Amino acid sequence: MAPVKVKKICCIGAGYVGGPTCAVIALKCPQIQVTIVDLNQARIDAWNSPDFDLPIYEPGLVDVVKASRGRNLFFSTDVDKAIQEAELIFVSVNTPTKKTGVGAGFGADLHYVESATRRIAAVAQNSKIVVEKSTVPCRTAESMRTILEANCKPGCRFDILSNPEFLAEGTAIQDLFSPDRVLIGSLQTQEGKDACGALASVYANWVPNGRILTVGLWSSELSKLAANAMLAQRISSINALSAICEATGANIDEVSHAVGYDSRVGSKFLRASVGFGGSCFQKDILNLVYLSESLHLPEVAAYWRQVVELNEYQKSRFSKTVVDTLFNTITGKHITVLGFAFKADTGDTRESPAISLIRDFLAERAYVTIYDPKVDAEQIWQDLAEANPNLPLELIKKQVTLAPSALEACKNKEAVVIATEWKEFKEIDWQVVYDNMTKPAFVFDGRLILDAEKLRKIGFRVKVIGRGSQ
Ligand code: NAD
Ligand code: UGA
Repeated sequence: MAPVKVKKICCIGAGYVGGPTCAVIALKCPQIQVTIVDLNQARIDAWNSPDFDLPIYEPGLVDVVKASRGRNLFFSTDVDKAIQEAELIFVSVNTPTKKTGVGAGFGADLHYVESATRRIAAVAQNSKIVVEKSTVPCRTAESMRTILEANCKPGCRFDILSNPEFLAEGTAIQDLFSPDRVLIGSLQTQEGKDACGALASVYANWVPNGRILTVGLWSSELSKLAANAMLAQRISSINALSAICEATGANIDEVSHAVGYDSRVGSKFLRASVGFGGSCFQKDILNLVYLSESLHLPEVAAYWRQVVELNEYQKSRFSKTVVDTLFNTITGKHITVLGFAFKADTGDTRESPAISLIRDFLAERAYVTIYDPKVDAEQIWQDLAEANPNLPLELIKKQVTLAPSALEACKNKEAVVIATEWKEFKEIDWQVVYDNMTKPAFVFDGRLILDAEKLRKIGFRVKVIGRGSQ
């Protein structure tokens, strides 16, 4: 059988991955029709909004969607039709950490993947290539194959590929335009290799051949978990060292620069911070921990678990620094938190360290004012309600205020905490901020973005992660 020529693609899941990834495929492959589907009507309506008020904020995304929407890029809730028409289907649904049942708190909740797979089996009228785009535990492709084969119509065959996504939020479009690599895992049968070739030929429209890596299915699935675990492990390593810096007077920026200069180590992902956030690092490491435990590898599980534990430690260590520095109590004090997103250039707040900090400040009965340039109010209230299940939202709203600008947020406050590295926080007029604050005025830089010496000259008392006072 000749390899399939892909003319129509369906993507199930119009989230942070499915949306940008398949919008870029549509842009780079005008000869392919791409339909991105989701069960969430509001999300699809936003993707289709006439003024391009898209459901996610990502630099460059609007231009990509503007170039292709209505031409060869479509957003729809008609999941069945898109499945039926496509030769190749990406499954790009969410795979959050399980909240209840076996593996709760560690294993991946695969029920969204399973229901998308069952839908494909139920409605497909001919053979399809089904691509796991979601991040999944090793050997999920096998379960998908079993479900598809047990439920499909006669004459339909399904080839399953693993094609994990490595984009980072905030740089998604750049990452998709020139990825370090595209990874495709397939069974090493002729059919598996043909399916792999069909997907590789889609990416070959803009990705150099040398960057398209083809491997076995299980290696591909595991490589995604491994990549995230190793990136997060670097952050936890540097954050562990930041605690030593604070205690000794060493400077974490200098340490990470010196260490990263070694070409074997490399300089990326060595920026100390208040802790990593985002929807995936913690989830994927816990998934690896669960996998290791299920495989009776407790030492391996303990090794990876420590990366997440160190991250929790870093967040609570920073909250404690704020309390200790403000004369051991923040009860009744007014604290500004600048930034609510888990990193700059995204409106995503999933697992944002800002949420943990604010939860700790509320527990100390401080008043908190929040400003973030991209996160909307509704999202902030939802996140704070979830993080403080014992505090009714009306009470949270008595302690928390949302401000329209950074300058406004800092007026008449005792302390400012930088929780997200938005560029605009570097550029605000810190003299004006100081003039309008209660004295002594404190700044806590959880992202190492401010010029601490300049702030001290203005009159601020400054604490920076990874910098001791000696
Ligand atoms: P998301 O929650 O933003 O989007 C998932 C979408 O899938 C939702 O809109 C949901 O309504 C939809 N969905 C769920 N079940 C469905 C079904 N049966 N039919 C149709 N639609 C359905 O999630 P995300 O951030 O896009 O992540 C998706 C996957 O990609 C996850 O496995 C994640 O680990 C992985 N990933 C995420 C990132 C990232 O930066 N967010 C990067 C790489 C990989
Ligand atoms: C991360 C990976 O970088 C992507 O390759 C992967 O595809 C994605 O997870 C995923 O699977 O979801 P993302 O979480 O979007 O991407 O963003 P990162 O840039 O990795 O940042 C994650 C967190 O680590 C942020 O809170 C960031 O502020 C923090 N970070 C990052 C540091 O504290 N220090 C650093 O040096 C780098």
